[in-house]
Amino acid sequence: MVPMKKILILGGTTEARQLAGKLDARADLSITLSLAGRTESPVAQGVPVRTGGFGGVDGLAAYLREMAINLLIDATHPYAARISANAASAARTSGVPILALRRPGWEPVEGDRWLEVDSVAGAAKALGDVPRRVFLALGRQEVAAFEATPQHHFLIRSVDPVEPKLAVPNADYLLARGPFREADERALLEKHRIDAIVSKNSGGDATYGKIAAARALGMEVVMVRRPALPDVPSAETVEALAAIVDQFGVDHLVRPVDERGV
Ligand SMILES: NC(=O)c1ccc[n+]([C@@H]2O[C@H](COP(=O)([O-])OP(=O)(O)OC[C@H]3O[C@@H](n4cnc5c(N)ncnc54)[C@H](OP(=O)(O)O)[C@@H]3O)[C@@H](O)[C@H]2O)c1
Repeated sequence: MVPMKKILILGGTTEARQLAGKLDARADLSITLSLAGRTESPVAQGVPVRTGGFGGVDGLAAYLREMAINLLIDATHPYAARISANAASAARTSGVPILALRRPGWEPVEGDRWLEVDSVAGAAKALGDVPRRVFLALGRQEVAAFEATPQHHFLIRSVDPVEPKLAVPNADYLLARGPFREADERALLEKHRIDAIVSKNSGGDATYGKIAAARALGMEVVMVRRPALPDVPSAETVEALAAIVDQFGVDHLVRPVDERGV
């Protein structure tokens, strides 16, 4: 019997879950999905899951070797830059092939009023001195940067509660998990009389509703630019990435060159 090939998928995204399900349907592949463990009650993933950090590049490289992983797939969120960098380095040092799922970012279209900034702290600054009513569609880890601008009124939406609450006088909290439809986003923005949104350029359809709603309302979006990610072989969609695995098989994917050159 031919042994199954082992794939480790670094996840935390809807696409990672979908990809895991798609590849797991193949009898010759054994899939493990890795989550950082940030979300208190992640949705069921449908395949075996391991949770928690690996301990940097060395920890991930050791895991790849110890578990005899044949292929590493980085399907993390486009703003999870550290784990993507670690994945590329660990693939090189361990000689395990790597593929990445790189969801394309959104592009501004006519009617959009985007103000692009390089960081969440930059977004806080870009809101200006005059008090505004701001919708923060960011992870709960990032909203602390807005304590630097307590003059604004914030509406903060997150999957898990923001604890501790922001040290600002005016903030409303909303717990919700996407996808979010444009009509619902528009109703939310109108109900809370929002005049600016701070968003990441996540790409995909699940969270685009607020961007489309902002455009329809002529509202400013302070858009945090994407971080730089390592250059590894990649595909833009679940289907395209699964097709690479189907076409080449795990054995014929190019092994990364060892960074140490030994
Ligand atoms: N950043 C976002 O906006 C965002 C949005 C939606 C979902 N997510 C998901 O949430 C997770 C954390 O995001 P982040 O921005 O905090 O990541 P990050 O800053 O790139 O990673 C920080 C550390 O968390 C651990 N880690 C991250 N993803 C992991 C995974 N899939 N499996 C095991 N360990 C992981 C690693 O710890 P060690 O160094 O100890 O290995 C990594 O060094 C990611 O899996 C990402 O896909 C992030």
